[in-house]
Formats: sequence, C-alpha cells, structure tokens
Amino acid sequence: MVESNEKRIAIIGAGISGLASVKECLDNKLIPICFEQNSFIGGHWKTEEKNEYNQDFYSAIYKNLITNTSKEMTAYSDFPMLAEWPTFLDCPLVEKYIEMYAKKFNLLSHIKLNTKVINVSILDDKRWKIKYITQDQNNKNDKNNITQNEEKEEIFDYVMVCNGHHHHPQFPKFKGMDNFKGEQIHSRFYNDPEDFKNKRVLIVGNGSSGLDIAVQLSSVASQIYLSLRSGRLPLIIPHYINGKPLDHTSRFRTYAIPAKIRKKLMEKAILNTFGSLPTYLENLDIFINKATTCINTGIIECIGSGSVILKPNVQELKSKGKNNQVEFVDESILEDIDVIIYATGYKLDFPFLDKSIVTGGDEIEQEYGEKYGENLVWLYKRIFPVNYSNIAFLGLLYKAGSFFPLSEMQARYVVNQIKGFVNPLPPPYEMDESIHQFYKKISKTYRNPESQTLRAYPLLYLDELSKEIGCYPYPWEIIKKFGFIFYWKFIVFGIATPHQYRLLGRNSWNGAKETVIICNNSNNKYSVFWKLLFLIVLLYLIFNI
Ligand SMILES: Cc1cc2nc3c(=O)[nH]c(=O)nc-3n(C[C@H](O)[C@H](O)[C@H](O)COP(=O)(O)OP(=O)(O)OC[C@H]3O[C@@H](n4cnc5c(N)ncnc54)[C@H](O)[C@@H]3O)c2cc1C
Ligand SMILES: NC(=O)c1ccc[n+]([C@@H]2O[C@H](COP(=O)([O-])OP(=O)(O)OC[C@H]3O[C@@H](n4cnc5c(N)ncnc54)[C@H](OP(=O)(O)O)[C@@H]3O)[C@@H](O)[C@H]2O)c1
Repeated sequence: MVESNEKRIAIIGAGISGLASVKECLDNKLIPICFEQNSFIGGHWKTEEKNEYNQDFYSAIYKNLITNTSKEMTAYSDFPMLAEWPTFLDCPLVEKYIEMYAKKFNLLSHIKLNTKVINVSILDDKRWKIKYITQDQNNKNDKNNITQNEEKEEIFDYVMVCNGHHHHPQFPKFKGMDNFKGEQIHSRFYNDPEDFKNKRVLIVGNGSSGLDIAVQLSSVASQIYLSLRSGRLPLIIPHYINGKPLDHTSRFRTYAIPAKIRKKLMEKAILNTFGSLPTYLENLDIFINKATTCINTGIIECIGSGSVILKPNVQELKSKGKNNQVEFVDESILEDIDVIIYATGYKLDFPFLDKSIVTGGDEIEQEYGEKYGENLVWLYKRIFPVNYSNIAFLGLLYKAGSFFPLSEMQARYVVNQIKGFVNPLPPPYEMDESIHQFYKKISKTYRNPESQTLRAYPLLYLDELSKEIGCYPYPWEIIKKFGFIFYWKFIVFGIATPHQYRLLGRNSWNGAKETVIICNNSNNKYSVFWKLLFLIVLLYLIFNI
C-alpha cells in the first residue's frame, strides 16, 4: 500500500544502473519513476542490428563482442545467470538476462520509454524539477524520423542519474585531421569487421576497445597498426588465469596475500598463459608497476604474428593525392591508410544538468581542471556531489570489473541513504577531503591519472559499500547463520561473487546461500597448503589479540 509520505525518485536511464535503481527503490517502498529516451531497456546491451540510421540510439557495443567479465560476476546479486550459459557471454545473452531481470521484478511498469530528460534543476525547497519530452520514433531504423511531443515537468524528492558514460566519443586532436581524406571513425560507431575487409587500418588507443577491435580485424583487414599514446601496451590480462576466469578472485587472495606477492603470482600466471614474450616486444610493460590493465586474450598472438603492428603516438595526418599518410612521433610514416579507428574512449556528459554539480564547482575546477580536463569528477565514493544531498550518480566507474554488481551496490547504498537506514553522509569538508585523497592516490599509482578518475577496485569498493549497508559477509554473522565450513570454504576461499552480499542484512535473499555454492562448484581450488597456512595465521591472530 502506498503511504502518502513515500518519496518520489526520478531515475534517468534504464540501462543496468537504472534498472537496479528501480528495483532497489521498489524493494524499499520508494516510488521510482524511470525515464528512458529509447524505446527499449538495457542501454548498451541492446543488440539490435546497428545501421547508419540508428547508431546514435544504440550502444558502443559491437558485433561479436564477448564480455570481459564472467557470468558469475556479471550478475545482479539476487538474480544469478543460468547455469548452462557460457562463462563469458555474447550480447544477446546479456540482453536476455536483462529482460529476464526486468520481468521477474516487474520493473517495466515503472519505466517511461521514449522519454528524454532535457533538464534537471533544483527548486527553492531543495526538491528537483525534471523537464522531459516524449518522442515517437516513427520508423525504428531512422533516427531523424521522430515526433517530439510537448514538454512536461514533474517534481521529485531525489534524483538518481544513470545515463551511462560510454556514449559520447572522445576524439584526440591530431594535426591534419580535418584535411585527411581517409575514413576516420570512433570505436563507438564500429560494428562489423567485414566493413574493413582488405583495408589498411590504423587503430588509435589501447584500451579494451582498441585491442579487441584490433584482434577482430586481424583476420579480415590487410594490415592493422595499433598506435599507443604512451608508447606502451597496458598490462594484458587473459580471460583465464591458471584455468580460472580472471575475475574469479577470492577474499583470501585479495586480503590475505600481500600485494607484492599477488602481483608476482599474477605476472607468473600471465607469462604461463601467453608463453615467453618475444624480445621485440620490449615495450610490453608487463612488469611496470604503474601500468594500466586490459583484458584480452588474442592481442599477443596478433602482435606475434605481425597482423597487428605497434606504433607510437600519432604526430600528423597527411593526404597527398590518393595517398593517406600517418606520421608518428618517432618520425616513422605509414602510407596508404584507408581507415583510422579512434578507440580513444568516452567523455562524460550530463547535458540536462548544471555541470558544476559533477565537477565540484569553481574552486575544485581551478585546482584540478587543467590536469584532469573533461574527466574531472568530484563525487564522494564516486556517487554523491558534496554540496547536494538529494542527487546521486550511478555507474560512473571505470576498469572496476563487472558493472552489474557495482551499479546495484551503489543503488542499494543510495536507497539506504534515502531511507535513513545507514549512517548519514559525512559533512562536506570530510567528503572533500576523501575525494582529495582519492586524487592523490590515482596520481601516485598511475602513469595516466587523468584517465583514472572513475577508477575503483571492485572487491574493495563492493566491500566498502556493503559494510555501510550491513550486507557485508561478516565472519561471525556468517558462521552463526551458515556454519564455519560454509564461511571457510565459500567466503574466505570461494569466488567473491555478488551473491555473497545477499546472505546477511536488510534485503537479504533466501537463494543466496545455494547460489554462492553453485557458483563455486567448479572453481574452489585453493590447495590444502594455502588453507592450512591461513588457518594457522588466523589462529595465531585470534590467540595473540
Ligand atoms: C564496448 C564495451 C564493452 C563493455 N563490456 C563490458 C563487460 O564485458 N562487462 C561489464 O560489466 N561491462 C561492460 N561494459 C560497460 C557497460 O557500459 C556497462 O556494462 C553498462 O552497460 C553500463 O550501464 P549503465 O546503465 O550505467 O549505462 P548505459 O548502458 O549507457 O545506459 C544508460 C541509459 O540511459 C539512457 N539515457 C541517457 N540519457 C538520457 C536522458 N537524457 N533521458 C532519458 N534516458 C537517457 C540511455 O538511453 C541508456 O539506455 C562495456 C562497455 C563498452 C562500451
Ligand atoms: N567486453 C569487452 O571485451 C570490452 C570491449 C571494449 C570495451 N570494453 C569496456 O568499455 C569501456 C571503454 O573502453 P574503451 O577501450 O573504449 O575506452 P578506454 O578504456 O577509455 O580506453 C581509451 C584508450 O584511448 C587512449 N587515448 C585516449 N585519448 C587519447 C589520445 N588523445 N591519443 C591517443 N590515445 C588516446 C587511452 O590511452 P591511455 O591508456 O594512454 O590513457 C586508452 O588506451 C571500458 O570499461 C572497457 O572495459 C569492454
């Protein structure tokens, strides 16, 4: 039954972050109204065929993409994927999963499709006014054939912004770009490798998109070149390490093994997987501390076989008659380049909102703006603006593992905040200090901190938020409820799946225990040595404290 004091929550976007937000609001007796500009839910994971007319509507995800996160980790915490599905999924399966989730939890009736939010502004009484417009796409394949209806407004107590951050291409600025006669596209609009058959292609950017597209094109294009701005590849991590999906990590591995040893084990495992590295790959900075990481299994073979050739950063683009040349910072020149694909990432964009809400205002922009540019985000826990108490941003994370449990945990935390079930957020000066510390950390850790402002370490981030909410798998609570063997086998040494966060606390789920066990069926293989060693250390700690 609806109570009159229930809060109305505006949710912008019905991708995986928006859907989790709708569900969490419903579970906690809030009134969610979700605005989705498309005629479908699922955001990026809608895999309807892209074509030249509809590509703006659809995702940055391309044909034949396989998730780089395993199905056990790419699930919402109370809705596991089907056991018979493969470990790494193609887009149609992810899309199916999202539809099943929306159906199971009756989310659709809370979503206004074909409804674009055009303005969000704060009122004197601190509530938010959402201005939106409904649009009818008369022909689903033609983005220009739209009827815009009348603008409308509604007032909300709280706004959850879930509009995604992989939509607005970020292009580099190279000399000669405007006059270059070869084709230039952003990876956002890449879809089918067949479009590049027998072409000489330069890919700029060595993130997941750049490497993945290089591998996809290697069997069809006549030659692929991959330009690396830093001159180095990131730390390449294969999909499987020692026979296990790379993200099947445990709390034991994350917390009990010192970072240095963990890193050494990882390096050894990567080398075991890829074999020894050829000497001409000297710039593969696999052992350099400040490397960023990238999951890819095929790129090493492509580089080894010469189908992908590494180049440094681009200096200038030139077209001389029919010859489209690219010059690099080492003065080398490539001739006859047919296509350049800029896999150079995405810009944050909140066209409906005062930008300073996200960037922290003048003072912060002056301090950090020059270095971090468009990537500057001043949000506490990468969710909350310091000076606004009733708006939250979800899904603004980068290289943090699977988005599904992360967005969902953020939604749980925000909803718990709205309901007052958890400690209130700290005062603004403490939030500011925490964000300053975060920026200090990324600038110390990465050689390209300006690309890391949304960085989070998945398990640490999930654990941090879950402790606030009370759904963290606390040892004593788990042992009391499920027994020591369960704790030992599945919480300490088992895969730290999202379902562990539904074992305890408010909104726990009866199916969580069984799901945690099923997810570990094939993959709980720590040796007796490690288990014994850990037991000894644990006993030592218990009896010495
Ligand atoms: C190439 C690629 C591969 C990826 N692979 C993986 C992977 O393997 N595993 C993984 O976990 N993640 C992966 N990701 C990350 C992916 O972005 C997330 O999985 C997820 O889709 C993010 O969900 P979201 O809801 O935050 O954003 P989105 O999926 O972008 O959804 C945002 C929604 O908001 C709507 N919207 C935007 N503005 C408005 C407005 N003004 N009014 C109304 N609606 C609006 C959009 O139409 C969209 O539906 C990948 C991303 C890319 C680009
Ligand atoms: N499931 C999959 O297999 C898959 C596939 C693709 C993408 N994704 C996901 O999608 C998201 C986006 O990935 P993405 O690869 O598109 O973007 P990204 O991770 O932001 O990577 C962008 C790359 O472009 C480079 N770059 C940026 N500006 C440049 C410039 N001016 N000149 C030259 N190079 C420049 C960056 O270099 P620096 O490293 O020097 O900053 C970086 O290597 C990520 O979350 C990723 O995990 C997943």
